[in-house]
Amino acid sequence: MLNQVFYISVILMLSLGSHALSTRISRGPCQANLTAVGDLNMRRYEGIWYPQFAYPLYHKSLPKCVKYNVTKDISGKYRILRSDIDSQSGNVRRRSTLILRVSRKGGKYAIRTDNSPDGLNMYVLDTDYRTYSIQYACIELEGILNIAYAVIMTRERMPSSEVIQKTKQLAELSGIDQKKMVPILQGACPIDV
Ligand SMILES: *[C@@H]1O[C@H](CO)[C@@H](O)[C@H](O)[C@H]1NC(C)=O
Ligand SMILES: *[C@@H]1O[C@H](CO)[C@@H](O)[C@H](O)[C@H]1NC(C)=O
Repeated sequence: MLNQVFYISVILMLSLGSHALSTRISRGPCQANLTAVGDLNMRRYEGIWYPQFAYPLYHKSLPKCVKYNVTKDISGKYRILRSDIDSQSGNVRRRSTLILRVSRKGGKYAIRTDNSPDGLNMYVLDTDYRTYSIQYACIELEGILNIAYAVIMTRERMPSSEVIQKTKQLAELSGIDQKKMVPILQGACPIDV
């Protein structure tokens, strides 16, 4: 049975260090019916992305003004520079995540996290590179539980409601369960965050 200790150990595993991803925990294996883009072009994927919807965090409110900057450093490695504002303290936080590998045909890249030095696979389920992107990752625990991360992002911080509607529809088509997703506040953000 799924006891509380098990849940807590899962949560700890995911939230160690600065890499708390907002996730959804459910019973059974990861969803098998999701497909990633067949040809992920990182050059076109580079640049700024603003998360608009994500799963809530387990024990605290989601940060606001979240921004990702996918960039290639001088050594030729891709990194994700993330900035956000902690909702409780109001502090600006910045961090850099290394992308360990990119699988163009697999539509995914592996990010280094504190708990997965070998990399956590992040799938790009759908993107047009110019407007929106839908990302998904999932970890399975002994086939009993799965921990899913999903995010709906746009290139603009405050996209039109048409873009939001269309992107949510595409996320639906991609198979993302949005019932538990919450909006990430992107209003009134400082220009340098
Ligand atoms: C995909 O699988 C999930 C369960 O893993 C199910 O809830 C969902 O309805 C499925 N979606 C489609 C389009 O088959
Ligand atoms: C994204 O990161 C690159 C590399 O650090 C930087 O040159 C660029 O200005 C950043 N873009 C924004 C909008 O912050």
